[in-house]
Amino acid sequence: MRIAVWGGGSLGLLWTARLTPLFPEAVLLVRTEKQRDWIRERGILLTRPSGEKERIPAAVRWIGEVVNESFDCLFIMVKQRDLREVAESLTAFSRPPSLVLLWQNGLGQDGPFGSVLPPGVLCGAVTTEGALREGPGEVRHTGEGTTWIGPFSEELAHPGIAAKLMGKLKDAGISIEWENRIVRRIWEKVMVNCAINPLTALLRIPNGGLLHSDDARFLMKSIVEEAVSVARAEGIALEAEDMLKRAEEVCRKTAVNRSSMLQDVERGRLTEIDWINGEVVRRGARAGIETPVNQTLVRLIHLLEMRRDPDECPPAGSS
Ligand code: PAF
Repeated sequence: MRIAVWGGGSLGLLWTARLTPLFPEAVLLVRTEKQRDWIRERGILLTRPSGEKERIPAAVRWIGEVVNESFDCLFIMVKQRDLREVAESLTAFSRPPSLVLLWQNGLGQDGPFGSVLPPGVLCGAVTTEGALREGPGEVRHTGEGTTWIGPFSEELAHPGIAAKLMGKLKDAGISIEWENRIVRRIWEKVMVNCAINPLTALLRIPNGGLLHSDDARFLMKSIVEEAVSVARAEGIALEAEDMLKRAEEVCRKTAVNRSSMLQDVERGRLTEIDWINGEVVRRGARAGIETPVNQTLVRLIHLLEMRRDPDECPPAGSS
């Protein structure tokens, strides 16, 4: 089975390191020739949660040189803002992949692919695993977790490919589950990201820091209540109390971790706010639901983003 991992960020490196020994034809697709050359020369250096280090040789290609290729399964592990470009590039393949997994934080990741992929190919992936990129080919697996994969549509076009993938990963001891209600899982993760990411980024504190302040906990509650109302309007029946408990639990379990949004802000990169709280605001407006707390957070994060390198493109949704 030919698998490609698109994206050389933390999760892309971690999954390439995992997939390579299981699927000898696995290949990592990266955005720059520099990263390709680095990994080609040295492989991927994986630091396991135990601290043990392993160098794994990996096949790697620069995305610009991938034309007329075909893959059975594609792990798309780029940020949401790059998905439209990825979707357009899929037309350079000689045939569409049989299974495409979207790993992004936030909502609406399937949108750009509707017109470029046949039905029954797109799946969402939700993970609670933690990874940190420490160099062009270096990744630290910061926390074990579980991954759920499931289809965006009712029926899979190639169930055999999905079964083979799941079987191999499970046999290798990777904690992975098939999930037929993947949109619900995505919403549950969005609740956690909405509550933790912008507050940690604004306050510049690790996740656990939110639990030490009544004000932060009050804001987390308000964020989740608004987001749950929007989810309910879309037919996803979640309970605000459960979702708040879940977000607090994540804060406890990942107390010393810096959220992905905090890391983006610290590195002067654009954040994913528009696809997390921003998407809640947009969907709320469509359903006639007010989301003032989420809206304020989106604006504050946009203001923080303005301090980044002015040569980069402006934040999506800003005027
Ligand atoms: O985006 C992140 O950093 C993570 O999804 C989470 C759950 C907030 C933990 O840091």
